[in-house]
Amino acid sequence: LDLTVSSSGGKAVSPIFYGFMFEDINHSGDGGLYAELINNRAVRNLDSWKAIGGVALTADTSNAVSTAIKTSLKVDVPAGATGKVGFQNLGYYGMAVEEKPYSVSFYAKGSYTGLYTVDLRSNSGTVFGFTTVAASSTSDWKQFNTTFVPSQSGSNADNSFAITFDAASVAGKSLYFTLVSVFPPTFKNRENGLRVDIANALNEVGAKFLRFPGGNNLEGGSVAASRWQWMKTLGPSSARPGRQGTWNYWNTDGLGIIEYMNWCTDMGLEPLLAVWSGLGLDGTIASQSSLQPYITEALNLLEFLMGSTSTTYGAMRASYGYPNPWQVNYVEVGNEDNLNSGKSSYTSYRYKLFAAAINAQYPKINIIASCPGFDIHGQSNGMGWADYHNYDRPDHLVSLFHTFDTVNRNTPILVGEYAVIQGNQGSLNSGVDWNLPRQKYPTLIGAIAEAVYMLGAEQNADVVKAMSFAPLLQHFSGTQWSPDLIGYTSFPTDTTRSMSYYVQKLFASNVGEMTLPVSGGTQGPIYYSAMKRGNQTIVKMANYNGTSTDVNISVPSGSGNVASFTTFTAPSGLSYNSPGKEVSSLSTKQITGSNGVFTVHYE
Ligand code: AHR
Repeated sequence: LDLTVSSSGGKAVSPIFYGFMFEDINHSGDGGLYAELINNRAVRNLDSWKAIGGVALTADTSNAVSTAIKTSLKVDVPAGATGKVGFQNLGYYGMAVEEKPYSVSFYAKGSYTGLYTVDLRSNSGTVFGFTTVAASSTSDWKQFNTTFVPSQSGSNADNSFAITFDAASVAGKSLYFTLVSVFPPTFKNRENGLRVDIANALNEVGAKFLRFPGGNNLEGGSVAASRWQWMKTLGPSSARPGRQGTWNYWNTDGLGIIEYMNWCTDMGLEPLLAVWSGLGLDGTIASQSSLQPYITEALNLLEFLMGSTSTTYGAMRASYGYPNPWQVNYVEVGNEDNLNSGKSSYTSYRYKLFAAAINAQYPKINIIASCPGFDIHGQSNGMGWADYHNYDRPDHLVSLFHTFDTVNRNTPILVGEYAVIQGNQGSLNSGVDWNLPRQKYPTLIGAIAEAVYMLGAEQNADVVKAMSFAPLLQHFSGTQWSPDLIGYTSFPTDTTRSMSYYVQKLFASNVGEMTLPVSGGTQGPIYYSAMKRGNQTIVKMANYNGTSTDVNISVPSGSGNVASFTTFTAPSGLSYNSPGKEVSSLSTKQITGSNGVFTVHYE
């Protein structure tokens, strides 16, 4: 195969071409990226809580610590009890213990003047480290804060956090605890921040935007009731009521709007903020006459993020310690609004009213219409960008290489979710069959198909502006949706970069300012795309089921005679990286060209 890369004539590439899509699914936030170790910290029930000694535990609802948090752990100590008693929290499928400083916080209430001992221990009884805080008898809630460094690490995640106290001092009485919280050091040392190993894996990708907070988890079950609400995700944990997440577990909202914005800052990501658009996942739809409060909620959020401190919500932001405004350039109205009969109301009033209100105040914001198909992608009815979702099979996704060649050039496209989720079954022309099982982990053939699809998008950089693989993260023990980009347990060395992860990383870290036309060969089985980044020429290729071959690449003069050649592969097309076991290989070597022609060999 002989390819010639032109020196000019390409298309400008969006500065946010590759990014992340994040929602709390698969314990990607709580129990994942959000570094809190304590599961069910507000004690909504007894899940994850366990008694130590002969005490009885109850999830109590009559001693609210705040208007947002009304639940707590009631610990009844039997009359005549002696020794140390208390309780432990088993974490999200366990917790790692390392020789690092842990920040502990909890609220307690009750008649006790001894010491509280807080410790991290193995579930078989080894205490890795502890400290004590002096209790003071109080009929009202009192918050305790402390830190300690375990003198020993745990060899697995079969560990827990415990609070114990002297039984004899409270025998026959009860103590109450809530909002027990334990944080290891976080990414960039942010308070209430991100788990370091997962954040590092994300940061290495070189992504340029963060689409959040959903996905289905933006929407909630029914109209209004359990939607994501930014103003309930602010402040200390005592001010965050949390919500029933869409993906079958409670969301603490500890990873709230400020934490999302800090995440963007710390990884150089443009926020691509989704606002709730009046569609509940049960099919209920906000009527036109009931929509205004939700539009106002979205406008308030934008003022909170971008307003000067002389505005109501800008001042509120400053009161949380952030006087300087953030910048939001992309807002998506809803998520998959064609579902549950949502399409006609979306096109007739929901999108229009949101977009008009946002546009009126923020004319520079790019507004994105949510819809997974091209049928309503906007150019004819005045919508802005279109969000297109595509879950697929390898052969079929590859067959979509040219899909963006023919779309209307006036509607910029966000491919807000895409991934190969099943193997090749049935005909080339069929996409996903939602009734059939999914792959557990991304395979090599799936990752290469994704690469082909991305190359096709790059070729159409005049209209495709941003792409994000989905879903991003999965706790291997708490997965609702597979496959996912990065998997982990509660033990850091289990964190696993999938086949798709490496493709995302290679593509995201090799984006230029302009595409460059390439001539000389047909696309497939080796697919290709070229870009210019400063003086560099970047050529990406994906070999989808091709045979062994040489590719001679002629680059524009002035590109130099030395190139860096990176290959990604794995033992077979069906290979996958499984928990803690990566079988893929990524290698880079220097190659020398001859008169501007570089020859690379594909096995
Ligand atoms: O990525 C998983 C889900 O797929 C998202 O929540 C939703 O937008 C899509 O249907």
